[in-house]
Amino acid sequence: MGKNIENYIQNANILDIMSDRKARVAWGITGSGDRLPEIVDMMKEVQNRYRETVDIRVYISRAGDQVIKYYKLFNDLEANFDKIWVEANANAPFLAGQLQLGKFEFLLIAPATSNTVAKISLRLADTLLTNAAIMAQKAYVPLYIMPSDYEEGITVTKLPDGRDLRLRIRREDVEHVERLEAMEGTFILRRVDEIPAVFEKHFGRPKSV
Ligand SMILES: Cc1cc2nc3c(=O)[nH]c(=O)nc-3n(C[C@H](O)[C@H](O)[C@H](O)COP(=O)(O)O)c2cc1C
Repeated sequence: MGKNIENYIQNANILDIMSDRKARVAWGITGSGDRLPEIVDMMKEVQNRYRETVDIRVYISRAGDQVIKYYKLFNDLEANFDKIWVEANANAPFLAGQLQLGKFEFLLIAPATSNTVAKISLRLADTLLTNAAIMAQKAYVPLYIMPSDYEEGITVTKLPDGRDLRLRIRREDVEHVERLEAMEGTFILRRVDEIPAVFEKHFGRPKSV
């Protein structure tokens, strides 16, 4: 028994040392179905490209947990990422603290709901990812956000069963995106294919590309 625990601690330490050699990225997922399957595919792609150098840790809002399951993507995430946390409250897991201690190169929230975007814009830090984002901004940690509602007008999003859903993106939601975009150290991503450039900016070109 004692030996097993020693082995376990030793293995855990080795894993820690191995992951300490890698840069860490916190990837937040909120409760947005918009482009969610494409974003999960992109998460896997960048993880594969930067497997040797970057440790992607996944943080999911409570609504995100529901929506990911609704879109039947949770198993896919679990199969590909070994470090996944679901929000208990604004400070649990304590992502905000870890960001402020400089444990992460950057925080990326993709997808970001209009709820999360509006809260960050209004400085409401009462959920895991709004708290993490606002505390990251205070600690000069770069914040990347991919909002679902970034352009005024009609948008068509896919329901989990593949049907189209037409929605009206409102000026009020776009205004919050614009407020975030004007904040220092905060960058808005409008398309999924903008994500690789963020990793390239921080970590250089991956070997395989
Ligand atoms: C299936 C489903 C899909 C949703 N998609 C979106 C979306 O694309 N954009 C959005 O702003 N909210 C969407 N919502 C609503 C959010 O989940 C809800 O506003 C929630 O309070 C957001 O919490 P969070 O920002 O902490 O994740 C969706 C909800 C469900 C159940």
